[in-house]
Amino acid sequence: MRVAMIGTGYVGLVSGACFADFGHTVTCVDKDASKIERLHQNVMPIYEPGLDDLVASNVRDGRLAFAVDGAEAIRAADAVFIAVGTPSRRGDGHADLSYVYAAAEEIADLMDGFTVVVTKSTVPVGTGDEIERIIRARRPDADFAVVSNPEFLREGAAIGDFKRPDRVVVGTDNERARAVMAELYRPLNLNETPIMFTGRRTSELIKYAANAFLAMKITFINEVADLCEAVGADVQQVARGIGLDNRIGSKFLHAGPGYGGSCFPKDTLALVRTATDAGSPLKLIETTVAINHARKKAMADRVAEALGGDLKGKTVALLGLTFKPNTDDMRDAPSLDVAPALMARGATVQAFDPEGMEEAAKLLDGVVFKEGPYEALAGADVAVILTEWNQFRALDLDRIKLLLKQPVMVDLRNVYRPEDMRARGFRYFSIGRPLDAA
Ligand code: UDX
Repeated sequence: MRVAMIGTGYVGLVSGACFADFGHTVTCVDKDASKIERLHQNVMPIYEPGLDDLVASNVRDGRLAFAVDGAEAIRAADAVFIAVGTPSRRGDGHADLSYVYAAAEEIADLMDGFTVVVTKSTVPVGTGDEIERIIRARRPDADFAVVSNPEFLREGAAIGDFKRPDRVVVGTDNERARAVMAELYRPLNLNETPIMFTGRRTSELIKYAANAFLAMKITFINEVADLCEAVGADVQQVARGIGLDNRIGSKFLHAGPGYGGSCFPKDTLALVRTATDAGSPLKLIETTVAINHARKKAMADRVAEALGGDLKGKTVALLGLTFKPNTDDMRDAPSLDVAPALMARGATVQAFDPEGMEEAAKLLDGVVFKEGPYEALAGADVAVILTEWNQFRALDLDRIKLLLKQPVMVDLRNVYRPEDMRARGFRYFSIGRPLDAA
């Protein structure tokens, strides 16, 4: 199959490289000429484990190409994927679809022969209908079908998620489009991945409902963690105890500083807006959004409490800035709330992140960035773990004790065990695991 992928952001680049690896011929198109130029030199615009090798080998084998001008690729394509950004629109939280519609217009003007137009970007219910209208209006004679095919890729694990997904969802009523999509994903038959065909609106909603449910699950365990602290219980054991029930499942029950990232905050907000507009509000998700927002801000209070309530003149060592490990993505990261809140209370913040500092430096005014974790810890009053990078799981605790002014750690990701930390002489604070729970 021939594929044109419009947009070489996170989703487009990973999907394009993986389709090429499946054996299809893929051109990834992006208006950003410098990005395409760098991709020609195998420089990835994002940090994703394994992506550079995957791109390099498929380019070398002639299945993957990059272009600024999409004309040739779109003309030749059996399927054109729209994988452009859908940021939150300023002011109202609705998804901004201007890039999606611009791509639809471009596709309408260029496509040739039967073409399947696929939305890979997360788009609100009804967007497929609008894309169909846009294309039909510009090309009344065109032979095409618009399909919804949401992605469920986690950053840091995106290639594995694409190649071994739990399921693939394809929303279309068009038989020919179904056949094209089935052929595109045929390699997944080998590991018996369910490919679920649904109506287009259903497929669009599945993506939002999945993300909203996961965000709600995290928020649930975060609230339970607070309760654990109040009543002397251990949230990790509560999570395990409920997660072993198959109906609940053990994943996404890790309590922390609140969810961030490029999807959950934006998608929950957009779903809330869609539901309100449709006259069928989603109260659970509205509450989830509000709780998570407040939680990220409240993390600075925990640091203050660990130091007796006052942060004036104190130095805080912040370990981890990205919204989760194995990514350089800073979008909606808890650090964007936590660091300013610490500084507003009078603290100096010394931070280190293995991949996120370049981006963080643009977003976090006033933070002092350090070369490594120990440099960030030197002379600080408290160590705060904000992102659970592997390298923070095996820190040299004796060395930290010498570097800190006093041995205090606030572990917002529950990386260490409270008993161990106490035995080593730390005053240790984590999430949902009061010392008296042990
Ligand atoms: C998410 C979805 O998992 C993916 O299916 C969708 O396509 C895009 O959004 P991603 O944003 O890459 O993927 O990150 P994910 O690993 O899901 O984590 C999101 C946030 O939730 C992070 O801030 C993470 O720290 C937090 N989280 C996750 C928790 O706090 N606890 C958990 O148990 C799981």
